[in-house]
Amino acid sequence: MEQLVNFKKIAIATASVALVVSFTACGTSTPSTPPDTGAGNATGYNLQVKDVDGDGLITLGFAQVGAESGWRTANTQSYKDYFVPANGFKLVFADANQDPDKQKQDVRDLISQGVEVIDIAPVTDSGWEPVLQEAKDAGIPVVISDRQLSVSDDLYLTYFGGDMYAEGQRVTDFIKQYMATNNMTTANIVHLQGTIGSTAQIGRSKALTEAAAANGWNVVYEQTGEFTQAKGQEVMEAFLQQNKDFNIVYSENDDMTYGAIAAMESKGLDPTKYLIVSFDGNKSAVQMVIDGKIKAIGQCNPLLGPQVGQLIKDSMAGKDIPKITYSQEVLIDSTNAQEQLAVAFGS
Ligand code: AHR
Repeated sequence: MEQLVNFKKIAIATASVALVVSFTACGTSTPSTPPDTGAGNATGYNLQVKDVDGDGLITLGFAQVGAESGWRTANTQSYKDYFVPANGFKLVFADANQDPDKQKQDVRDLISQGVEVIDIAPVTDSGWEPVLQEAKDAGIPVVISDRQLSVSDDLYLTYFGGDMYAEGQRVTDFIKQYMATNNMTTANIVHLQGTIGSTAQIGRSKALTEAAAANGWNVVYEQTGEFTQAKGQEVMEAFLQQNKDFNIVYSENDDMTYGAIAAMESKGLDPTKYLIVSFDGNKSAVQMVIDGKIKAIGQCNPLLGPQVGQLIKDSMAGKDIPKITYSQEVLIDSTNAQEQLAVAFGS
């Protein structure tokens, strides 16, 4: 039920791309231009980032998801590189270890420490209202990054990160085209899901569910691999033991894809003979596109530190900032993998 509400929110945000003026700049796309509601905020949020202790630096408390994937490692590094005194910041880092309850406690700890702004990359989407209200009551602005939250607009300053549903649609469009070009008449799909309840999983899974219904594709197995390589391998091994037919693997991140490919290879299956699609775009995964093991990747950009930093500086300067800014992302396939390899993150 809650997921349905989230889907509606994502759909509304996506629809606004078409309805409202949009632009792209500095690797971002802004889907909605909110009305001017006053200094440094959008749609009713009334907090602005300030150097409260007057030390010349902004202390950012970053409530990070964990260290589950190559994407996450690159995301954390991007924050550690950018939020340094030379750029006007101090960073207080909290790692939730993929535990939604711990993450809410992490945010409460950041509030008690009196940081000047909080950035939350939410593990999951639910149960955030009380914590966000506590931050607001303490006068600490909150930025949401990486994964969106379905909470009232007046509980956070801005969102910056991927449009997970659009990423999923790019990949399902690719599957449709690939099947047509290669005369594939049946789709038997193994669906490896990310952390259930994260908007990365919700958006990417929704795109697949819709495309499967529209095109008559069969999802023969659906299981979470929690965005990790080990769990991705484990659930793929469990599926392969069932000896069911499949010709497509839709894996919601590269790490689970590495695990799934390892499971297939150890069973003697050649991954190049399957339609394997993935998300993120780590260097090794892009290389696998060149090698034909992965056919396409829905790119997701982890290098968010500098752009989040700019939004915080804009808030300090009293500028209006958009409620939602999506990273500019593409589909990676055999046509652009070589050029994407040159700029890919991670290893
Ligand atoms: O929210 C982004 C997702 O989280 C990435 O796709 C995945 O690799 C990470 O763990």
